Amino acid sequence: MSELDTHTQVYRVDLGTRSYDIHIEPGCLDGLGKAMGDLFDTPSRCMIISNVTVATLYMAQVRNSLEQHGWQVSECILPDGERYKTMDSFSRIMDALMHARLSRNEPVIALGGGVVGDMTGFAAACYRRGIPFIQVPTTVLAQVDSSVGGKTAINHPHGKNMIGAFYQPRLVWIDPLVLTTLDIREIRAGLGEAIKYGLIRDAAFFDWMQQHMQRVQDLDAGDLSTMIHACCRHKAEVVMADETEQGIRALLNLGHTFGHAIESMTHYSEFLHGEAVAMGTLMAARLSEQLGYAGSGIEEQIRDCYQQAGLPTAIPNFSADAWLDAMGHDKKNIGDRIRYILLHNIGKAFVAEHVDPAAIRQLIHSYG
Ligand code: NAD
Ligand code: GLY
Repeated sequence: MSELDTHTQVYRVDLGTRSYDIHIEPGCLDGLGKAMGDLFDTPSRCMIISNVTVATLYMAQVRNSLEQHGWQVSECILPDGERYKTMDSFSRIMDALMHARLSRNEPVIALGGGVVGDMTGFAAACYRRGIPFIQVPTTVLAQVDSSVGGKTAINHPHGKNMIGAFYQPRLVWIDPLVLTTLDIREIRAGLGEAIKYGLIRDAAFFDWMQQHMQRVQDLDAGDLSTMIHACCRHKAEVVMADETEQGIRALLNLGHTFGHAIESMTHYSEFLHGEAVAMGTLMAARLSEQLGYAGSGIEEQIRDCYQQAGLPTAIPNFSADAWLDAMGHDKKNIGDRIRYILLHNIGKAFVAEHVDPAAIRQLIHSYG
């Protein structure tokens, strides 16, 4: 990795009038109230949106920090899980916002992982045609990826994240210490998303991840901060270059076309998002080899890395028709064409829009 600066704590995501800071600092959760004071002229009403699990752990701490700085805080606490990333939960958030009578300039705070962050962002985009929102991500996945970049959404029975908007947060406030309460399986799923940046655009970071895999799983403070910094820098660079995914941002979807199909075919109940994306990435790597875009061995190299990270690497068994049908519902497709993110090398991904379905059938059959 070129320059790892573990001391830098703030990145600016420069998007003109939609610019914002990503603040990364162990222990910064208590400082949110002050930071919000710097962001808004006068403290007023705000709402913290979270889920039952995260609220039990961190709601009081965040609430205190805000109240100490003059904020009048209300809460909306949702059930926990991807299966609640729905229109019902969205309605519950809307009801809570109406009930609290938040006005156009009063912010919502997403306190949780990617599910809470995506839903809160979408609600913020819609309520009164847009109110400010703050991301306080509490999972590895959310700290290295989903809290930055303004993709917000809820799921529909016909597909994941099908209803949503690009809507940027006003601040991303990352406290790596909150990860100490996270389940090891969730930590590992988040590492899959961190490895992704190495695969797409930074071979040296891929090597770094391999060398530090045990230490980041053990939540070594220095290595964890280094990893989050590197990922946020990558994410910010990509988003600044292509906010609404007209070009290179699509590369961040490596593994997602197959991964979303795995999630949908297993009814969002068997695998975590990061696990499904890891398996999807292995499939993309095999397809890249099969089509001659990458030299042989790349799939094996990635599998070794995922195994070190404790991620699942056995692709679930479904018919080729089921795979193609599930992928046909992916929102990243253009018309009837399914888009794939493939690899030339570790560190070099590209978008392939003209993959013959016969090649996908061959890929699926290769898993027996
Ligand atoms: P999640 O939000 O469901 O969180 C995982 C689990 O960890 C949940 O049970 C949660 O309650 C719990 N949890 C969260 N923080 C905790 C903490 N500090 N201590 C203990 N438990 C904690 O899952 P996720 O992996 O964070 O996010 C997945 C979602 O993110 C998916 O819906 C995916 O579509 C979305 N996503 C969005 C983007 C984006 O750019 N917007 C990118 C990647 C993924
Ligand atoms: N996580 C993919 C993106 O933000 O574009």
